Amino acid sequence: MLSFLKKLFGGENEPTVATPAAKSDPAPAPAPQSAPEPQPEPMPTSVAESESSVVEQPVVKTEVLASLYERIGGEAAVDAAVDIFYRKVLADDRINKYFEDTDMEAQAQKQKAFLTLAFGGPNDYSGADMREAHANLVQKGLSDEHFDAVMENLAATLTELNVPDELIAEAAAIAESTRTDVLGR
Ligand code: HEM
Repeated sequence: MLSFLKKLFGGENEPTVATPAAKSDPAPAPAPQSAPEPQPEPMPTSVAESESSVVEQPVVKTEVLASLYERIGGEAAVDAAVDIFYRKVLADDRINKYFEDTDMEAQAQKQKAFLTLAFGGPNDYSGADMREAHANLVQKGLSDEHFDAVMENLAATLTELNVPDELIAEAAAIAESTRTDVLGR
């Protein structure tokens, strides 16, 4: 689990480092307005001083890539997605039997955990946890087809929320990376 969180936080193809603050704080860490603020008006002060500082300043634009979790909308997006996702899962005859014995309230929390995880957000799950959480279900026959159904419901949920395709693909990749653990292989 950590590996794909890292992958996400690091932004696989991004040269810059994403903010690790997102781990504990889902709120948008980098203040959006504070970064792009070069001196607005070059005041006619000491020319020598301003000239040299202009030359020396090598355009310090630190492009911090937000985690998928942040880009997708953070906790608010998870909250919005939970209901839709849960409704879809419970309406899906391929997989709803796996959820019928679970306490609804606790399940909402778990759905939230699931989505936070799928968005690469802050969570404490490891591969071992995923194994453990689903071990019973594996005994009851949980397999690839069920996993695929969950993936489908996840994508459909995000589509319904107008999440851009590329972010859906990122979320799907993270969820996909749990397959072997969830299926206890
Ligand atoms: C896409 C991969 C999946 C991820 C990332 C995932 C994630 C999670 C997480 C985070 C929890 C909460 C664990 C806990 O704290 O107890 C959980 C529980 C659960 N998951 Fe998954 N899950 C996945 C796939 C599936 C599939 C395919 C099914 C069944 C079709 C399923 C059914 C359940 C159920 C029933 C629980 C609650 C178990 C209990 O009663 O404690 N999950 N899952």
